[in-house]
Amino acid sequence: MSILQENISLKPYNTFGVAASSTFFAEVFNEADLKGLLSMAIVKEQQMLVLGGGSNLLFTRDFDGLVIKVSIPGISFVDAGDDVIVTAGAGVVWNDFVNYCVGNGFAGVENLSLIPGTVGASPIQNIGAYGVELKDVFYSCVAYEITTGNHQVFEFDDCKFGYRDSVFKNELKGRYIITAVSFKLSRKAKINTQYGAIQAELLNRNIDQPTIADVSSVVAAIRVSKLPDPSTIGNAGSFFKNPVIEKSLFDEVIEKFPDVVHYPAPNDKIKLAAGWLIEQCGFKGKVVGNTGTWKNQALVLVNHGAATGQEVYAFSEEIIKTVYIKFGIMLEREVNIL
Ligand code: FAD
Ligand code: EPU
Repeated sequence: MSILQENISLKPYNTFGVAASSTFFAEVFNEADLKGLLSMAIVKEQQMLVLGGGSNLLFTRDFDGLVIKVSIPGISFVDAGDDVIVTAGAGVVWNDFVNYCVGNGFAGVENLSLIPGTVGASPIQNIGAYGVELKDVFYSCVAYEITTGNHQVFEFDDCKFGYRDSVFKNELKGRYIITAVSFKLSRKAKINTQYGAIQAELLNRNIDQPTIADVSSVVAAIRVSKLPDPSTIGNAGSFFKNPVIEKSLFDEVIEKFPDVVHYPAPNDKIKLAAGWLIEQCGFKGKVVGNTGTWKNQALVLVNHGAATGQEVYAFSEEIIKTVYIKFGIMLEREVNIL
């Protein structure tokens, strides 16, 4: 039986919960499925979208092509001294992977607890949270080149990781399907509690010698307090990136807005908190039709139930314009627009 399905609703496959459909759809559970699928004549003619958990996407129209949902399972590890190389199939749910690592005492991903989505998508935008980015634990990934069917191993330097960025969002965009990712973790915990909110919550819980399980639990609690749960309120996390600007522009901004929330960034640049910029424009918690921003986090756009992708997109345009007029800073979307 062919795994290729026609005219499939994508609503259950995107955490924004917006309606859209795809001409073709296939879910792959192993590499043989993937090879078989990509060798079909009809498939070769289609534009393709690789889908994990659909938690970083906004569909603004139906997808005229083939959506491939990657559901390749499996987690294994090999020891390497105090380190351990853990490999997970691209379809493993990211937080299941984190729980597996925390449960086995493999340190490194606990600060990335509760991020939605799959392991396979984690290198695409170099996921990050609470002082850790994927690049800090990335070892390698295996990817399948769509046009040639070749397998390629990408090592750290090949991936050109940056803030919410990698080679897979730029020169290799749409060319590879990641099938597995390997991580270099440690059996000797190196606890990272530099993020202020983690320290505050540990103090609140009277924990002064935190384990990786403590850090995971604290991060999860902070996230739940700030971010909407996509199973009840559709969203894709931060809709925009935090802008990273030149010092000269920052000097102008801070002169007019002394309270602007900012952090040092590489190459003498400054990162601004986009949530603060958006809140200062009066958007925090605002409801516009079926969309709006989240009441506890202005950087998160939400679907109040019946929003269309176009409605959310139009609202994001209004935010970009208003922030630009007030601060002279152009926000860039983090979410992939389709
Ligand atoms: P999808 O949305 O399915 O896909 C995202 C992109 O990756 C698409 O371009 C897709 O084509 C591509 N892709 C997916 N799988 C593969 C594959 N196997 N091979 C090749 N390309 C692939 N992100 C953070 O970085 N930090 C956060 O703290 C964070 N918090 C979030 C909180 C909430 C409530 C939500 C809803 C989202 C949050 N996100 C966060 C965004 C999201 O969780 C991540 O971007 C995640 O990695 C997306 O995974 P996914 O499997 O859902 O990817
Ligand atoms: N802030 C406001 N108003 C808001 C939101 C934020 O003033 O409505 C200010 C506050 O001063 C707050 C600061 O911005 O202290 C930072 O907010 P927060 O700690 O919530 O982090 P963020 O910069 O808004 C980033 C990531 C998140 C990640 C958190 C924690 C981006 C685009 N977003 O958000 O990632 O979970 O840090 O590390 O970098 C995602 O990518 O989807 C995502 C949720």
